[in-house]
Amino acid sequence: MSIIDPELFTKALAAIEKSYSPYSKFPVGCALKTKSGQYYSGCNIENASYSLTQCAEASAIAQMVSAGEREIAEIFVIGDGAELCTPCGACRQRIREFASLDTPIHIGNREQHRASFTLNELLPHSFGPENLEKIS
Ligand code: THU
Repeated sequence: MSIIDPELFTKALAAIEKSYSPYSKFPVGCALKTKSGQYYSGCNIENASYSLTQCAEASAIAQMVSAGEREIAEIFVIGDGAELCTPCGACRQRIREFASLDTPIHIGNREQHRASFTLNELLPHSFGPENLEKIS
């Protein structure tokens, strides 16, 4: 964990504690740091109408964009369990919108950092904003 900003872990830990996940009972917390050095975080927010569930990554990204920021430098996701709590497919695409292919995505549990991947490792051959740039 020494090379990872400890503040990111602390903020993701605070976020998982706020999780609203009465249905899955699977809390998730996410913290991200922007290129300007600001931190934003969020938790998963479930709903009795299950499909309306919002992932922790989506919550953190919503906080970032609502604050006027758009460039993710680093992300930390915390979840419980034996498996790594890597972002779901939809959240990989959400991150893709505001990150570079080499942006680090750190995964951990409440005790420690467990693994790190680049966005490109989690979402290879991805489709992003550049694909929609006009060709003149
Ligand atoms: N979840 C996240 O918050 N992020 C992910 O990338 C994986 C899944 C949440 C959604 C749901 O509330 C719970 O974990 C179980 O799927």
